[in-house]
Amino acid sequence: MEEKIAALRAELEADRAAVHTKEDLSAFWQKYLSKNGSVTGLTKSLRDVPKEERPAAGKTINAFKVWAEGEYQALSAEIEKAELAARNKAETVDITLPGTRRETGALHPITRVKNEIIDVFAGMGFEIFEGPEIEDDDHNFTRLNVPKNHPARDMQDTFYVAEDIVLRTHTSPGQIRTMDTHKPPIKVLVPGRVFRSDSDATHSPMFHQMEGLVVDRGITLCDLQGMLDKFVQALFGADVRTRLRPSYFPFTEPSVEVDVSCFECGGKGCPLCKHTGWIEVLGGGVVHQNVLRNCGVDPEEYSGFAFGIGIERIAMLKYGINNIGLMTENDLRFLKQFKD
Ligand code: DAH
Repeated sequence: MEEKIAALRAELEADRAAVHTKEDLSAFWQKYLSKNGSVTGLTKSLRDVPKEERPAAGKTINAFKVWAEGEYQALSAEIEKAELAARNKAETVDITLPGTRRETGALHPITRVKNEIIDVFAGMGFEIFEGPEIEDDDHNFTRLNVPKNHPARDMQDTFYVAEDIVLRTHTSPGQIRTMDTHKPPIKVLVPGRVFRSDSDATHSPMFHQMEGLVVDRGITLCDLQGMLDKFVQALFGADVRTRLRPSYFPFTEPSVEVDVSCFECGGKGCPLCKHTGWIEVLGGGVVHQNVLRNCGVDPEEYSGFAFGIGIERIAMLKYGINNIGLMTENDLRFLKQFKD
C-alpha cells in the first residue's frame, strides 16, 4: 500500500505541474478525486489488505486523500487567481485617455444671423410676420408702386410661375400683407426666402431677406436712422456708425442706401470695405404715399419707414465668407466652423 501511494503521489505531483487552466484542473480532479479517480480508488483496495493491517492502511490512505484534496484546492485557488489577473490585465481602463466625444450639430450661418437680427429688433418691440414665397404680381410689384411696364421691374430678374404669379423677388410684399391685416401703429419684421434669376460669387438664385416696416403718426427718416444705428451697433459693434446715401426704390420716397463704417478697419480703409471705409448693408426709406394708399392707410394721418436687409450679405460680411455658394453646398468643413 505504501508503495502504491508513493507511486500515486509521484504521478499526481507530475500531473499537478501541468495544470494551468480550468480544463486541466477538471481533468486532474477527474483522474484523482472523482468517484472513479485513483485516489478515491485506494479506499476500495483496502479490501485486499490483510485485516490486521487495515486500520493503519486506512489511516495512511485518509492522510493521502486529505493531502491530495489539499493539492487540488491549492491548484484551484492558483488558477482562479491567474485567471482574475489575466482578466484584469485585458480589461485595463486608462482613465487618463480622453473620452469619445459626441459630435454636436451647429446652426447654419444664415440661421444664426437671422436669429441675431430678430433678437435685436424684437428687443425694440418688432413683431415677426411671414408671407408666402409664391406671390402674385400685385403684392410683389403693383401695390408696391411698381406698375406693369415700370422700368423698376428690370431691377429684379423675376422667376415667373405663371402669368402674374412669381417667386417673390423680395420680402417687401410682406409690407402689403401686414398693412392689409393690421391697423397702425405697425412695427413688423418679415424674414423669408426670396428668388431672383441671378448667380455669381455674391448672388444666388435663392437667398434670404428681412423686411422691416414701421407705420405710425409722425414717423420720419430720422426714426429710421436712429433705429438703424442701434441695430448695426448690436450686430457689428458699439463703435460702428451709419451713413445714409440717397438712392431709389419705387416703394420709398425718399429712399436711402445704408452704409456702416467698416467694422474691420474702423473706417481707415481695408480690402473688406474696398478701401472706402464704408460697407453697404441695406436699403430703406420713407414708405411711399402710394404704397400707404394702396393698403388703405391715409398718408395724411400716417407715415412710415421701411427697410430690407440681405441676410446672406450680412453673414458674409460678419464671417468673412467670400462665396455665397458655400451657403447651400452643405460642405461640413464649412458648416463646422460655425459651432459656438
Ligand atoms: N426690396 C428691396 C430689394 O429687394 C430692398 C428694400 C429697399 C426694401 C428699400 C425696403 C426698402 O423695404 O424700403 O432690393
